[in-house]
Amino acid sequence: MNYTQQIRKLATKKNAVILAHNYQPPEIQDAADITGDSLELARLATEVKESTLVICGVYFMAETAKILSPDKTVLIPRPDAGCPLANQLTPEMVRAAKVAHPGSPFVVYVNSNAATKAECDVACTSANAATIAASYPEKTILFGPDANLAGWVQRQLPDKTIIPIPADGGCPTHRNFTLRDVEIARREYPNVTIIGHPECSADVQLACDLIGSTGFMIRSCGEAKEWIILTEKGIAHPLQKRYPDTVFHVMDTAVCPNMKLIELSDLYVTLRDGVYPVQVAAPIAVKARIAIERMIGAAK
Ligand code: 13P
Repeated sequence: MNYTQQIRKLATKKNAVILAHNYQPPEIQDAADITGDSLELARLATEVKESTLVICGVYFMAETAKILSPDKTVLIPRPDAGCPLANQLTPEMVRAAKVAHPGSPFVVYVNSNAATKAECDVACTSANAATIAASYPEKTILFGPDANLAGWVQRQLPDKTIIPIPADGGCPTHRNFTLRDVEIARREYPNVTIIGHPECSADVQLACDLIGSTGFMIRSCGEAKEWIILTEKGIAHPLQKRYPDTVFHVMDTAVCPNMKLIELSDLYVTLRDGVYPVQVAAPIAVKARIAIERMIGAAK
């Protein structure tokens, strides 16, 4: 039996379900029961019947699953798979922003730590950030930690004032895409459709044909025959699987090193030994759950 077969056998034996983000290595996605974007994974994690959830993604994704399913065992094969964006917004920064802007709701990107979410009104992903911000009657909305996503929400909601906290938060992988990349790509592939993630910088976003979450990308790419995809290159795998006759160009340098940490051997050990369990301290989990449940509710 190869690793994937052993993983599948162990998952059944241990009553475990494996959820993998669209950026995970192809072999991890293929070994999983469920793949998806951040919102899809968070929502589906609440709907499965198995007693153990194995989250193949970065740490905040496993933390989110644990907060939503405190009575289940939530395992992450590589607990060192952090998200550099998540560490850019601390609970103290949220509290200070709320003091500076009394009465303004804080919408926190799901790429954040549980202790930060616990201070915020609602969480969001890139799939529902604008819908969630629009659902608040207040004109001023505090938003963090991704300033590019905040800018995208601002362009969708011109009647609101979206204040990014911090002013310059961002994902190192998505910041690598430049306007020059887009211009060169347009010259090289004149018939291509370009779709980007809202974590890309504003000038890159404005030069794209479409913007959205990784799930939106997967749903949208049936619309044309050749695409340039401006997000982490792991997305090429689910896209090519779903649209085998479509040409996808991703950038070889668009790699999130944290998303690439999990190997099949890690996933096997996770299921065999029950490592590594995710725990969130109760006072934080209870508060963060309110923000996350609002995010899930808004998605339905
Ligand atoms: P999605 O919600 O689009 O899957 O994005 C996840 C992410 O972490 C982007 O950096």
